[in-house]
Amino acid sequence: MSAYPADCEEELELHGVRLLIRPIRSTDLDEELRFVRGLSPESAYHRFFSPVHDISLQMAQKFTEVDYESSMAFIALAALPRAGSIVGVARYIAKPDPAQCEFAVTIADEWQHRGLGLALMQRLIAYARRRGFLLMEGSVMQDNAGMRGLGMRLGFTAHTDPEDPATVTLRLALGAKGAPNVSHATTPANATNATNLP
Ligand SMILES: CC(C)(COP(=O)(O)OP(=O)(O)OC[C@H]1O[C@@H](n2cnc3c(N)ncnc32)[C@H](O)[C@@H]1OP(=O)(O)O)[C@@H](O)C(=O)NCCC(=O)NCCS
Repeated sequence: MSAYPADCEEELELHGVRLLIRPIRSTDLDEELRFVRGLSPESAYHRFFSPVHDISLQMAQKFTEVDYESSMAFIALAALPRAGSIVGVARYIAKPDPAQCEFAVTIADEWQHRGLGLALMQRLIAYARRRGFLLMEGSVMQDNAGMRGLGMRLGFTAHTDPEDPATVTLRLALGAKGAPNVSHATTPANATNATNLP
């Protein structure tokens, strides 16, 4: 496990509200649980692919215990409704092919459409690139216009799997800056599902 990357801590002002963006820590467990439990049914469904209203303690521990190398998560913290409330999370985990990682991102409902998903994903992508990952991808539901739009904005390409028409894989090549996106790579059968990402 790498040391906590304190140099990734950053203040950000969005629509007049100051946020702290930083890597997640194991001590964020309670806040992570509150964050997931506070999601609307639609956001939870888009994130977890099922009508999840809660996550287990074990899952929350996985979400907060990242090693800052093969797994990483950036969180955004606001002063309201409580000091230090998590209002957004973007994470990746390495896939069986260690040059590839899978992402997931979730923004609290009241914070959506303010540019936070974009800000967190930009930082996650830059971090993954610095760590030497060559490809980032994620499964999203076909009807998830928000994530598909955000993915397009970030340069991801969308790939459908005829065997699973309900989901779309968003894929971004992380090689040299400006390199073309990978368009024909296949998804390994044992790929981690975004639902279980730590
Ligand atoms: C999808 C999600 C992460 C987007 O985050 P967000 O903070 O609301 O997005 P942003 O405000 O940063 O939007 C950035 C860009 O993404 C695109 N975008 C965002 N929401 C969109 C929507 N509903 N439709 C189309 N494009 C959209 C736009 O290009 C937008 O730029 P613009 O505002 O200048 O037009 C957020 O809605 C969310 O958490 N949804 C629930 C969980 C989820 O679906 N996660 C993805 C699966 S892992």
